Amino acid sequence: MQEKAWWKESVVYQVYPRSFCDSNGDGIGDLNGITSKLDYLKELGVDVVWLSPVYQSPNDDNGYDISDYQAIMEDFGTMEDFDRMLEEMHKRGIRLVMDLVVNHTSDEHPWFVESRKGKDNPYRDYYIWKDPVDGHAPNNWGSCFSGPAWQWDEETGQYYLHLFSVKQPDLNWENEKVRDEVFSMMNWWLDKGVDGFRMDVISLISKDPSYADGEAGLNGYSSFNVCANGPRVHEYLQEMRRRVLDGRDTITVGECSGVTLQEALKYASLDGKELNMVFQFEHTNLDADGDNKWTDKKCRLTELKEVLSNWQNGLDGKAWNSLFWCNHDQPRIVSRLGNDSPEYRERSAKMLAVCLHMMQGTPYVYQGEELGMTNVPFPGVEDFRDLDSINAYHELTEKGIFTEEEMLRFMRYKSRDNARTPMQWDDSANAGFTTGTPWIMTNPNYKQINAAEQVGRPDSVFRFYQKLIALRKEKEIIVYGGYKLLEPDSESVYVYERTLGKEHLLTACNFTDREQEVRLPEEAAGREASLLIGNCEGAEWGDMLRLQPYEAVVWNWKED
Ligand code: GLC
Ligand code: CA
Repeated sequence: MQEKAWWKESVVYQVYPRSFCDSNGDGIGDLNGITSKLDYLKELGVDVVWLSPVYQSPNDDNGYDISDYQAIMEDFGTMEDFDRMLEEMHKRGIRLVMDLVVNHTSDEHPWFVESRKGKDNPYRDYYIWKDPVDGHAPNNWGSCFSGPAWQWDEETGQYYLHLFSVKQPDLNWENEKVRDEVFSMMNWWLDKGVDGFRMDVISLISKDPSYADGEAGLNGYSSFNVCANGPRVHEYLQEMRRRVLDGRDTITVGECSGVTLQEALKYASLDGKELNMVFQFEHTNLDADGDNKWTDKKCRLTELKEVLSNWQNGLDGKAWNSLFWCNHDQPRIVSRLGNDSPEYRERSAKMLAVCLHMMQGTPYVYQGEELGMTNVPFPGVEDFRDLDSINAYHELTEKGIFTEEEMLRFMRYKSRDNARTPMQWDDSANAGFTTGTPWIMTNPNYKQINAAEQVGRPDSVFRFYQKLIALRKEKEIIVYGGYKLLEPDSESVYVYERTLGKEHLLTACNFTDREQEVRLPEEAAGREASLLIGNCEGAEWGDMLRLQPYEAVVWNWKED
């Protein structure tokens, strides 16, 4: 068995602070709001909280555009509120992971304010500035949020690079001073007592010095992912390990957009030279059209199984997986891969939870996922807040690539705002999130779907997540067992086996609204087994497993 580690055995809960809980009625979630809900998280049983950015920011991209890495955003509270929140987390045995956003800063960060002042400013080289080529941008790179990744600066006659919004200029990691600044800021937070970092688009920090064109997509620009896994990224992360993380007991996860399995084996190698694990996006990109996410295409179950199994088997014993369906950039999983109709919402949400949580890796639960929260029926484009969605709407409709109706339909299915509406605490006004006017609309289904109702009900989605999280603490096989996919060709069921020594877990999940049958693998047939967890009444073990619509079962058996 591989070496044990607490971060392999943990479950992480992601809090998106703007939408979690508002303590002062200004319509914006805040740190005191989070502190007031820690008992809820304790009851759920999670070990770690990953907090999306709470640093000072002009909020072009909801805190992912940082203007001061060592100050708290006013909307969210004060540094004293932060310290109290951290202390209250630690009192409850919950660790805190901070979001580290260092591929770029805000254009309002003092470094950039200086940098744009002139070519000989000492901060010029903190960012990536280039001369025009034949009167236009140096290459065809596109921003993740529509349009080109280069912004012309009249004053100094150069372009700066922004793989995200114009207000998120990319830092120049080639510059040693930039790395010094980042590493000392990280040390400052760790000295304060935080327990680790989720590293925003860390796979993009090293740009290929050739600055060559990439393959053009729908809007004529190449994907921001042309910068993924650049030539020096592993060198930078190993330097970070030496200068910041070595000798500290942390949890680190790199958001690695554009990562391949081969690259992940380096980022997340168990040799501990870089990060503990990465977020990969192959499974969440399956329902995109190439680089274009704006479609309502569904992913095929066979493809999903192939991708996830590839990661399970490819990293086993060599590196470590993170397991996630949801985060603040993804639509709600029950609306995406499950069935959010009143009849099957809860059952399919539980099925998806089983499917993910029984795999090898560290599971991440995104706020509201544990309630089976759904996508949102946004009435019109003015109800969206996310610049990614809004920019894409304008760009793609103005270029005549999609009609307004099409774009709205795609946005209701895929927009990041689906994950960003207020957390549904109870059935009072605004789902109990705020006494004021929320910064983004509340999903009208909060009267039916909310925490207060679910915490008290034994068969709720919340209680089911609680049980799954508790099982991970009881059964080593869930954390450390090997993985084997069964029934790879079925478009209806996801069946896999975990094995540790002589112990086995057989997980079978029905992804359809019809009954399905699953034949047991030979080595399991005829054994005695016990049901570890399931989401329907009356599950029975036998050579043929019968699964009700969206049923999930986990059977536990042992070799003699
Ligand atoms: C990451 C974040 C996303 C943000 C982007 C730019 O992908 O998860 O929310 O917009 O990076 O920082
Ligand atoms: Ca507030």
